[in-house]
Amino acid sequence: MEEKVLDIVELTKVFTIGSLLSRVRITAVDRVSFHVRPAEIFCLAGESGCGKSTTAKMIMGFEEPTSGTIIHNGKPSGRHEKVWLTQRTQAIFQDPFGTFNPLRTVDRYFFETLHNYKLVQSRAEAIDWIDRKLRSVGLSYEEFADKYPNEFSGGQLQRISIARALLTNPTLLIADEPVSMVDASLRMSIVNLFKQLCDELGVSVLYITHDLATAYYVSERIAIMFRGNIIEMGPVEQVLMEPKHPYTQLLRESIPEADPRKRWATKISLTELEQQEYLRTGCKFAGRCPRVMNKCLEQAPTDVLVDDTLVKCYLYA
Ligand SMILES: Nc1ncnc2c1ncn2[C@@H]1O[C@H](COP(=O)(O)OP(=O)(O)O)[C@@H](O)[C@H]1O
Ligand SMILES: [Mg+2]
Repeated sequence: MEEKVLDIVELTKVFTIGSLLSRVRITAVDRVSFHVRPAEIFCLAGESGCGKSTTAKMIMGFEEPTSGTIIHNGKPSGRHEKVWLTQRTQAIFQDPFGTFNPLRTVDRYFFETLHNYKLVQSRAEAIDWIDRKLRSVGLSYEEFADKYPNEFSGGQLQRISIARALLTNPTLLIADEPVSMVDASLRMSIVNLFKQLCDELGVSVLYITHDLATAYYVSERIAIMFRGNIIEMGPVEQVLMEPKHPYTQLLRESIPEADPRKRWATKISLTELEQQEYLRTGCKFAGRCPRVMNKCLEQAPTDVLVDDTLVKCYLYA
């Protein structure tokens, strides 16, 4: 049987939003299934509001699934279990400045983690351990000790959050838009780092992004999401170079993306288009699809295997 560090089966999340009089139920994540193999970078991609973060939050235990199963290293996670707190799965967040309290030195987080997981016996051992992790992201203990978050650049701080995630020797890193708030000039070097960690330490990465360029560059397999559904999934070369789903074809041309800071503020209110598409019966993309057919409006297509790629589209049925 194929080895999997993470296996997601039919994961679903329904949100009820709006006031009492204008309630809507949207399926932000709709029977999503995928797996991540050992030492693999798997990418979950799609425009903002398609359900990527909700999927990540359920995997990390921040959000309770409406239904479906999440299996970490062969072990299904129980209800209310904070999966991200386990040693084997660690997360890296979008905003490195939000990860650390500005009034605490960053090294304290590192000592605390080692202490909490009882990974070292002495301070000297801890410093050595921390230095090794920092070196794997291109930094060192010396240049990091006793400093506050604002003494680092965004790029450095994101490297530091990656080093922190590595402290417990995880098998899987979950990185939700890890470079979208980092200077464009530094993005590639951070994305490269994931690739290096995967190759050298054998860590798997669930890389979540709206940026297909970095996705193409680092990942082996990719899933494209649209309004809660994975509409195409397969080897990155096939999906991005010979996209089959009309949405993937469109996405390759341009990715509509809101400013992440603005999105944060207006998170729960859906745009009209978003709501319309989420509430559609049939294929969620039908309203924008250049190749829409009558049956697309009536019933959602099921997955079809074309080459090594799964496609949710009647064009291939
Ligand atoms: N806590 C919540 N309550 C209600 N709706 C939510 C909540 N979190 C996210 N949503 C909605 O679910 C959809 C998917 O959001 P999200 O997973 O954040 O997408 P992405 O990360 O791809 O931008 C969006 O329409 C969003 O507004
Ligand atoms: Mg998101």
